[in-house]
Amino acid sequence: MKIVHIASEVYPFSKTGGLADVAYSLPVSQKKLKHDIYVITPLYKGILEKFDKIKYTGKKTWVDTELGVFEFGIFKTKMNGVTFIFLSNIFLFERGGYYGEDGKDYPDNFLIFGGFSKAALNVVKYIIDGADIIHCHDWQTALTPALLKTEYQDVEANIVLTIHNLAFQGLFKIEDVLKLKIDPWLCGFEGLEFYGLANFLKAGILMSDFVTTVSPTYSQEVMTPEYGFGLEGVLKKCSFKFAGILNGLDYKIWNPNTDPFIVKKYNKRSYKDKIYNKIELCKRCEMVEDLPLFVFVSRFTEQKGISILIDALKVFTDEANFILLGDGDSIVKQKLALLDKRKNVKIFFGYKEALGRQMYAGGDFYLMPSKFEPCGISQLIAMRYGSVPIVRKTGGLKDTVKDLYFEGGHGIVFENYSSEKLIEAIWRAIDAYNSALFDKLILNNMKKDYSWVNTAKEYVRMYENVLYK
Ligand code: ADP
Ligand code: GLC
Repeated sequence: MKIVHIASEVYPFSKTGGLADVAYSLPVSQKKLKHDIYVITPLYKGILEKFDKIKYTGKKTWVDTELGVFEFGIFKTKMNGVTFIFLSNIFLFERGGYYGEDGKDYPDNFLIFGGFSKAALNVVKYIIDGADIIHCHDWQTALTPALLKTEYQDVEANIVLTIHNLAFQGLFKIEDVLKLKIDPWLCGFEGLEFYGLANFLKAGILMSDFVTTVSPTYSQEVMTPEYGFGLEGVLKKCSFKFAGILNGLDYKIWNPNTDPFIVKKYNKRSYKDKIYNKIELCKRCEMVEDLPLFVFVSRFTEQKGISILIDALKVFTDEANFILLGDGDSIVKQKLALLDKRKNVKIFFGYKEALGRQMYAGGDFYLMPSKFEPCGISQLIAMRYGSVPIVRKTGGLKDTVKDLYFEGGHGIVFENYSSEKLIEAIWRAIDAYNSALFDKLILNNMKKDYSWVNTAKEYVRMYENVLYK
């Protein structure tokens, strides 16, 4: 099968979160199943400097809009058998961020990602000569199915959309989106129209041949008002072509036995060496190392449970240490900066790949008290690195972490979204840390298998259903 992924971020070239992890490791795992795989993604500022194997193909493509004609250079590299195609445009892709700056979305995101979606379809049409399956990801590329069924009808391909996070839908003024010179019909109720605005994700759901999200539990949750962000009705209507497929983790990229960023490598047999990573991390944060260490590597947002975490941290003094790494809006950052004054709390701001890895390796427990979580890659990394996950029972967290109260359990799971319940969970963790069973807990996590092998096959089965329906 010839499969073309279109994604707005792809590790290791660009990344703000788990989408980038998946947009790299799913294609690579599909390549291992002997399919012909392409990934099309923007060439953001700085990528060429870091990856000298990415070469200009000498080809260009153009997208005509009412705001001008945009030229995209086409660049290419091959990695693990997958062809990565990068589209360059200085005005659209060489800004301070990918989607916005200082917590604010770019007002012309419709142009950045609408333009990117059209340019990507040009690549499919003119450069790689069609596909069996086009697989787009999240709102940034969710206009692609609508374009394929109108302006690009002559491109032979079936199209599927994966929703990684329903909280982000790509909402714009209809008059702005029309500037992309799309078929005006698309702006009606059967397409983009959503309470008087244009909604990229809604159109993507309606116009794809199949829609997935990243865990079975989240696929059920999003059909309710609590988790649906207004799209629960649309998803219910499309439930005949909608399913949850659990993400995997790339076990080559995330491996404590080879991770170049951690001070002491370890595996299931030498798991006791994990302690050296804790010692190093504690030294860096001026913390004592004989207390349980809780870590959090994420976005400081409500989705990730940051407000209940802030309240919970105020309760603990000399029972445990906490290290948090992430970025968020200025109010949350101010609150966190206050907590950082405590001896047992250290907060790092920003996106830091190496530190993140050192924290997965050095932590005893990994905190993930999410309000909602489509899948979650972080808890999978934590398990792989033998850090015991503490999670709220929602979405992919529910599907991947079993409470230690049950036979074979390996984490701590709490149900209600409240700081009280999180505090209880942290106390349970401290008890576990002080019990004789803690080593077994570390090992139980390291023995879990959330690699891509099964998931990649599940995606291919889904594609086959779409192709041969
Ligand atoms: P989401 O995509 O919702 O942010 P996931 O758990 O799916 O959450 O994936 C997050 C990914 O991004 C993980 O690989 C995590 O390690 C990484 N990550 C998130 N924030 C940071 C940060 N501040 N520094 C380094 N890595 C981060
Ligand atoms: C989103 C979700 C996260 C998921 C990731 C990759 O960013 O918030 O739960 O793991 O996408 O699918």
